[in-house]
Amino acid sequence: MIRHTLMFRFADEVPEGVRRSILAELETFPERYPAMRHWSMGENLSSPDQTYTHAMSVEFPDEQELLAYLTSESHETFVREKWRPVIADQAIVAYEFAGPAADAGREGRMARPHGPYGMEYARIEVPDMQATIDFLEYHVGLQLEQRTDEYAYLRSDIEHHAIELISAPERTAGWTTAIGFSVESAEVLEEIKQRAIAAGHEILALQKRQQALCDDGFALADPDGLVVELFVGFQEYAEPPHLEIRPLDLVHPFLATTKYEEMLDFYIKVLGFIPSDHIVGSATFLRSEDRYHHSLAIQKNDQHYVAHLCFAMKSLDHVMRMRARALYKGAPIASDIVNHSASTSIAFYLHDIRFGPRFELCDSHRVFTPEEHETHRARKMPADPRNIDVWRPASDDWGRF
Ligand SMILES: [Fe+2]
Repeated sequence: MIRHTLMFRFADEVPEGVRRSILAELETFPERYPAMRHWSMGENLSSPDQTYTHAMSVEFPDEQELLAYLTSESHETFVREKWRPVIADQAIVAYEFAGPAADAGREGRMARPHGPYGMEYARIEVPDMQATIDFLEYHVGLQLEQRTDEYAYLRSDIEHHAIELISAPERTAGWTTAIGFSVESAEVLEEIKQRAIAAGHEILALQKRQQALCDDGFALADPDGLVVELFVGFQEYAEPPHLEIRPLDLVHPFLATTKYEEMLDFYIKVLGFIPSDHIVGSATFLRSEDRYHHSLAIQKNDQHYVAHLCFAMKSLDHVMRMRARALYKGAPIASDIVNHSASTSIAFYLHDIRFGPRFELCDSHRVFTPEEHETHRARKMPADPRNIDVWRPASDDWGRF
């Protein structure tokens, strides 16, 4: 949409009757130019600035319609013969803005409860800390920032960390114990907390170290016992790691669960995630306020565990370079290059059970526009491999996932 605004002042000597007739003629414009919308005009009420005595404002569907009005013969004649002789000064501003659909979206955004902003980290207990660090550095592209005998922090971008490792030599396989999501404001954090209390969830303190890494937050356990930490003011570095090939962001965890409906209720109704798409009876992709197609996915399963963590790379080239590293070193590729239909991302998955979940490295994960974020209607897609990977040739091609 284009909003065209005109501010003007009559010359001092122009008689009142002439002024009234000019203003009356302006009032006929919406009838004469059907492309006009929301026409309005009024006297300037501003006391500090009386440069102009009146203003007129009107909308057009696009710039072409505005030009059609301005260059029309009737408008040019009016300007030449009636307007210019009586107007001492004027200013015109025309600007483009999002139309009524977007306005409705903005109202909707104010009205609906907000969820977390986006995923920041996962906390993983691993039997072999050094081997896990080596793997995450070389195969995922993370940078080690801090390490003790007990824990390690690795980051992908400026956020303080994307992976926190906890040394757990008693384990034989890595196990994800917590996921962390930032929240856009203290108000939204409080709203989520109140929804959780109202739904009967126990509010837990953030992990001690995490308390020192953010302004405020709390934790709660999801129906499977996975700890979800929510916070504002997560610390960040001044610069991203000086690594050319690294992930730009941690996008989502993929949670396998035996309590599918309960988990959906928890993440949607309590935390405020929004369904983006469903694989009917099998999985739901949920988005949060960072507008990735999914910042969380939940899959019906006969076990509960964090099945994978998805990192976004800068480009498909970087995804393929990481795949080349995996092939070169013989790192286990759990699912080779796929083209996800729902989120438009191309990815492959690495998996070594010692290091925890699968690590998905992707490119071009869909980010909704603000309008789509408010209006997208979740699709219900049948459980067909072609709805998960568009490069599958047939409905029974379930292998290699
Ligand atoms: Fe994923």
